[in-house]
Amino acid sequence: MNRPFFYIANWKMYFTYNETISWISTHGEELSFLAKSHHIIICPSFITLDHIAKEFNQSHLLLSAQNCSAYKKGAHTGQISAASLAEIGCNYCIIGHSEQRNCDNNDIIEQKVLRLLEYNITPILCISNPQEELTPAITAFHKFPEKEIIIAYEPLNAIGSGNVPENRFIEKTFSTIVNFIEHHVSDKTYYMIYGGSVDSENVKRLKLINRLDGFLIGGASTHFDEFKRIIEF
Ligand code: PGA
Repeated sequence: MNRPFFYIANWKMYFTYNETISWISTHGEELSFLAKSHHIIICPSFITLDHIAKEFNQSHLLLSAQNCSAYKKGAHTGQISAASLAEIGCNYCIIGHSEQRNCDNNDIIEQKVLRLLEYNITPILCISNPQEELTPAITAFHKFPEKEIIIAYEPLNAIGSGNVPENRFIEKTFSTIVNFIEHHVSDKTYYMIYGGSVDSENVKRLKLINRLDGFLIGGASTHFDEFKRIIEF
């Protein structure tokens, strides 16, 4: 079977509630059409997830949260559980994004990955330093050997900066990731994606990266035409 190639739109906090709904009502139909032939995952803010899930429940478009709680339920003010995400039909969740790592250490990130897998949500585990940040994935593979994880490699200085490293640098890190995972566990399903200033200009050369399974796209995914150019390249 062919490996999927993911286009993951990380909308961060770029849009307000109304702006998100308006973006979806303007571009949703065309996006759903693109999703028939491409694996497109939209990561909007928590507050719009339920609306978007309902809007696209007949579509191939996939939905991701941008974070979740490390806990199942209880006294955790302001947090959203993996169970809630599963109930509204969210199939993916970003974990450990560098813009969030000041709040989460590796142990918390590990708990979040486990909570997600318990509820059949695929974690999109963001890492910028493979040697230190891959252990949550290893623990998860030990506990849920049959589940899949997406690993998003995002060099810190590439995020939102326009500074995209050379392909060979990204490939070197990808090999480090593969070696690390295969040293600890074998025969697991994981996808390796790149994130950091992906746009329609650099997508051509980035697509040549060996073993690449997709992109995590921030700023460029908020402009529909630009996102479409990336997808259709
Ligand atoms: P960027 O963001 O594409 O705007 O660099 C990527 C990310 O932070 O996931």
